[in-house]
Amino acid sequence: MNSQNELEPLASLSSVRNAHASSNENPSPTENLVEQSAPAEEPIAIISDIHANLEALTVVMEEIRRRNIKTICCLGDVIGYGPNPRECLDTVIENCMFTVMGNHDFAIFYEPFNFNTAAENAAYWTRQQFESDADRTRRNRRWRYLGGMQTRVMHPRFMAVHGSPRRPINEYIFPDDIYSASQKIALIFERVNHLCFVGHTHVPGVFVELPDFYSPDDLNNRYDITEEKAVINVGSVGQPRDHDPRCSFVILHPKHVEFIRLTYDINTTVDKVRAIEALDNFLGQRLLEGA
Ligand SMILES: [Fe+2]
Repeated sequence: MNSQNELEPLASLSSVRNAHASSNENPSPTENLVEQSAPAEEPIAIISDIHANLEALTVVMEEIRRRNIKTICCLGDVIGYGPNPRECLDTVIENCMFTVMGNHDFAIFYEPFNFNTAAENAAYWTRQQFESDADRTRRNRRWRYLGGMQTRVMHPRFMAVHGSPRRPINEYIFPDDIYSASQKIALIFERVNHLCFVGHTHVPGVFVELPDFYSPDDLNNRYDITEEKAVINVGSVGQPRDHDPRCSFVILHPKHVEFIRLTYDINTTVDKVRAIEALDNFLGQRLLEGA
């Protein structure tokens, strides 16, 4: 496993892709600068916070495929909480152009930090799932991918982080911050050039510098891209927390961002969580509530 502290600020898309697809090489660990991945008119699917929910991820991947979208970016927390970490990480390795590191990916690769008991137990159980796979090639590929996740990726069309541009792995940007922490929002926007995609809160929507926040409902699921800076939360594929239990993700089109919600077989995931002793039943229950 490579250290996250090695610095290699510039890597081409092909090196990112090769590293992630074949896992023969580890890409730069802290930040990556992705060269033009696709013509600007090509749509890009941006997903986040899968949390080892295979039923949710499968539905999202089918929709992306149905729309014939070739490029998928992932904003982290692929694993943690949910019952299918191996399958979800393998799907991401095989389909995503890059994944930035989330706090749960960090916890499982390194050590849980500021986790509650349920999250910590889930992190150790997830680590054990990876370590107990009898196939050494699969084991190595997963650890290399996790260890190679960047904290920030600079794509020509946007910045990608899990939490915030200021503290990319751990900082939450909550909708209420526009009222209660306007200075925090100002400091975050100082670090944004134009578009920044985030996850982490599991609450989709768009922050603008004013400051203001617009939910997908406010926007009729469409944010029109202008010159103004925007921090766009794509929501969560596998554990939504905006009281809508459907999977959330976005598609970046040339001139707008489309917010998408999809239903999936939640009960199957909940049953899996309940059958695994190390996973708190609450982690299943919250899927039903979207909270
Ligand atoms: Fe998360």
